[in-house]
Amino acid sequence: MNSALHVALVFTSKKKAQEVSVVRRLDELIKDDEEPPDLLAEYDTEETICAVEAALARQYCVTRVEGDTQAYERLRKLHPDLVFNISEGFAGPNRESHIPVLCEILGLPYTGSDALTLGICLDKVRTKEILAFHHIPSAPFFQVDPNMLDGQCFPMPAIVKPLREGSSMGIRNDSLVTTREQLVQRVLEIHRGYHQPALVEAFLPGREFTVGALGNTSAWEILPPVEIDHSVLPPGSNRIYGYEAKWVWDDPANPMPILVCPADISSALEHSIRELVIRALDVLGVRDWCRVDLRLDAGGHPNIMELNPLPGILPDPGENSALPAAARAAGYCYEDLILKVAAIALRRHGLLK
Ligand SMILES: Nc1ncnc2c1ncn2[C@@H]1O[C@H](COP(=O)(O)OP(=O)(O)OP(=O)(O)O)[C@@H](O)[C@H]1O
Ligand SMILES: [Mg+2]
Repeated sequence: MNSALHVALVFTSKKKAQEVSVVRRLDELIKDDEEPPDLLAEYDTEETICAVEAALARQYCVTRVEGDTQAYERLRKLHPDLVFNISEGFAGPNRESHIPVLCEILGLPYTGSDALTLGICLDKVRTKEILAFHHIPSAPFFQVDPNMLDGQCFPMPAIVKPLREGSSMGIRNDSLVTTREQLVQRVLEIHRGYHQPALVEAFLPGREFTVGALGNTSAWEILPPVEIDHSVLPPGSNRIYGYEAKWVWDDPANPMPILVCPADISSALEHSIRELVIRALDVLGVRDWCRVDLRLDAGGHPNIMELNPLPGILPDPGENSALPAAARAAGYCYEDLILKVAAIALRRHGLLK
């Protein structure tokens, strides 16, 4: 162990979220029967926190820090050499930026993207606006509040998603809509359940991929693409890797074989996906690690769906977590993945040769 280096692992635990009832949408009261079933989906499980801590402990002296209202004081007193940030934040549209901002105030080096990039990538419309400015393909879209529905024409079929969530929160089998009535219904449900605008996007009907990236601009290591194999979804369901597919139909004891890695694709398609991913990472200012979701349009061309600069990292291979799966395909076990991200960040800060 390199005991000279002290790493603070900052997370947002499901346990704490439950204890203090700061689940993010409860700042405006939701009636019990309207509370979405996935409000805790993004917070870290004890299993993930333990696995990241154990990986880091192989080389560093590690202290756990909950990313709550005490985090500033804890980090100020600890003054670690590096903050390993996996905190999604408890609440608010800038929740993923909270820990990077604290680190910036305290002058602490931290892993991953900065507050601006995390804030933008959580907002799928801001992300798509930046991609569009740089001529990077993503599906045609509208940001919609319930009061903006009158007279508006939408592309059909469309997918209706919350503006700023992850882990497929608010994205369900019925998020694919083919009529105006269905679309209006989903916009209203997103507004009621998650207190935010909806993103209405043209539905991309082709194959779906997610691509892990490690490194920084001009030195990205692109991991083998993972295909989301929609053919294993229950017959009659929509081809969406959403709430049911991630949290209801899948069972870690008997995992649905939905992640195919490496994806079986032509070298031409792999090349165009890699190029697109690198451009998207660079225009959004992503650092150290990320997972980028893409889907092919009707013409077979890849489009960016979203970037996850705080990617999910469930340690159990049975949990179908795409970044650890891509890392395994590249020959990196879970511990290698975590230690690589720490080393990339330390190198970026000039703290490692
Ligand atoms: N425009 C689209 N066309 C087709 N399918 C889409 C589109 N947008 C989203 N999807 C489907 O919905 C799923 C979830 O969408 P998205 O990745 O935007 O949500 P998320 O909650 O941010 O996901 P994550 O779990 O990656 O954080 C995608 O994996 C894909 O199957
Ligand atoms: Mg996604």
